[in-house]
Amino acid sequence: MRHSLLKSLSVVILSIMLLPVSMQAQNAKIKFDIDRKIGEVDKNIYGNFVEHLGRCVYGGVYEPSSILSDADGYRKDVMDAVKGLNISLIRYPGGNFVSNYHWLDGVGSKDQRVPRLELAWARLETNEFGTNEFIKYCRTIGSEPYLSVNMGTGTIEEAQRWVEYCNVKEGPYYAELRKKHGFPEPYNVKYWSLGNEMDGFWQMGHLNAEDYSKKARETAKLMRLTSPDIKLVAAGSSNYRPNANPDLWNRTILTELKDVIDYIALHIYVGNPDNNYYNFLSTPLVMEQRTDIARGMIKEVMQTANRPGRTPIFIAWDEYNVWYRARTTEAMKGTRALEEKYNLEDALVIGGFLNVFIRNADIVKMANMAQLVNVIAPIFCEEKGMFKQTIYYPLEMFAKNMHGTSLDVFVDCGTYNTEEFYIGLGESKTKQTNVPYLDISATYKEGEVVICVVNRNKDQSIKTDILSQTGEFSGSIKVYEINGPDIKAMNDFGTENVKTVTKPDLKATGNSLTYSFPAHSLTMLKAIIK
Ligand code: AHR
Repeated sequence: MRHSLLKSLSVVILSIMLLPVSMQAQNAKIKFDIDRKIGEVDKNIYGNFVEHLGRCVYGGVYEPSSILSDADGYRKDVMDAVKGLNISLIRYPGGNFVSNYHWLDGVGSKDQRVPRLELAWARLETNEFGTNEFIKYCRTIGSEPYLSVNMGTGTIEEAQRWVEYCNVKEGPYYAELRKKHGFPEPYNVKYWSLGNEMDGFWQMGHLNAEDYSKKARETAKLMRLTSPDIKLVAAGSSNYRPNANPDLWNRTILTELKDVIDYIALHIYVGNPDNNYYNFLSTPLVMEQRTDIARGMIKEVMQTANRPGRTPIFIAWDEYNVWYRARTTEAMKGTRALEEKYNLEDALVIGGFLNVFIRNADIVKMANMAQLVNVIAPIFCEEKGMFKQTIYYPLEMFAKNMHGTSLDVFVDCGTYNTEEFYIGLGESKTKQTNVPYLDISATYKEGEVVICVVNRNKDQSIKTDILSQTGEFSGSIKVYEINGPDIKAMNDFGTENVKTVTKPDLKATGNSLTYSFPAHSLTMLKAIIK
């Protein structure tokens, strides 16, 4: 009798252990406390990126020949969608493109601009769109321009002259040149990056960490002497291939440039080439681990930094996205390069990245989704019109709602372990353990708590008790959900399978609330706390 009981018990235990990882979710608990603060959310984490690549600029942002464009040649349908993203700043003009870009080619009378062979993405660059067109675009949509200087084939003098052209009111040659081009007032461009991915062997003019630091320091000196209030972003690690040493790169440039820079830029692209949902959904943890490592190095160098009156060094997640389908040799070239189409699982990963920015709000003070239109982008257009890709919706949800103070949320939920896998093409392998099914961040502003929750579980909803530890819920709680019929669901022209849907309001009792987060979803709860 005892023997058969034990036998059936072990059968039950064994069958639980053999359940697919996706079936083992359990109820969860979340506790938040408006007094447990991480830091202030910087609006610049809702930045974006426009590079002269494929159809991001020409045929995306700018298409003067289209009946859908305004008098400046900007696509109006695209611009309306761009405005919906509440973009704080836009990085321009690259990316790999910038390492052989000479800004003087893109200013002055359009009929005198010289076409160039574009070597990063194998295109002809007409230079029809340049600094002035870009800054006018930013002003029209209400975003700050953020310019990247050429640290590959460019010189420190060329960088200085660009700052003079943009930020000096009058007097010297390049300030007067801007005026002659029809722009009497200086632009006062505040954010400048010292090159792009200079750690990558693929970068034109690639340098080692010591040489990059020397060039960046001298470039920064001339740029600041020209415009003292600018903020400078150094090119941190982007190369995570097996033979690279991204931590050594970051440590070297932080040590060398600690008195000079305001941000260190990190880049990440993830993908799901093996079609393994659970591995893929864990990739935001890799971003969080890299954030932690950079945070530690920043802390260390700040102990001996000499930067009177300046803020500490912050992290800029300067390029991030899902990118793996349009990454074969052919998809990387020409006018239709990098035209990635996104599905629901990609949108959930983007939700995870945005949660990482909020959870690390004390140190991550800038982030730019790469890129804005057509090229690995939340907005996709053709001559006939545009549509919003799945990844548009998490970005819109966060940029419109997640502001104020980031809260340190307690989460108790089921977890899973991944296999060993590649997070992106060419990268080293990773393995993630104890990946929480619920990925959460929360903000507090003017009496309102906003909680964003990705339920990574593919098959099950997760019933969750939510407890406010300081103050009670007041009034009804608003609920918004990004989800779709299945994890591979995509959007297209005239078809919106994945988007934000408003769900029925919830009522809480006192300081507690119970909610079931649906399988493969991103949910936002908005509650007033009194
Ligand atoms: O965003 C596409 C490319 O990815 C950028 O040009 C480069 O910086 C990165 O490798």
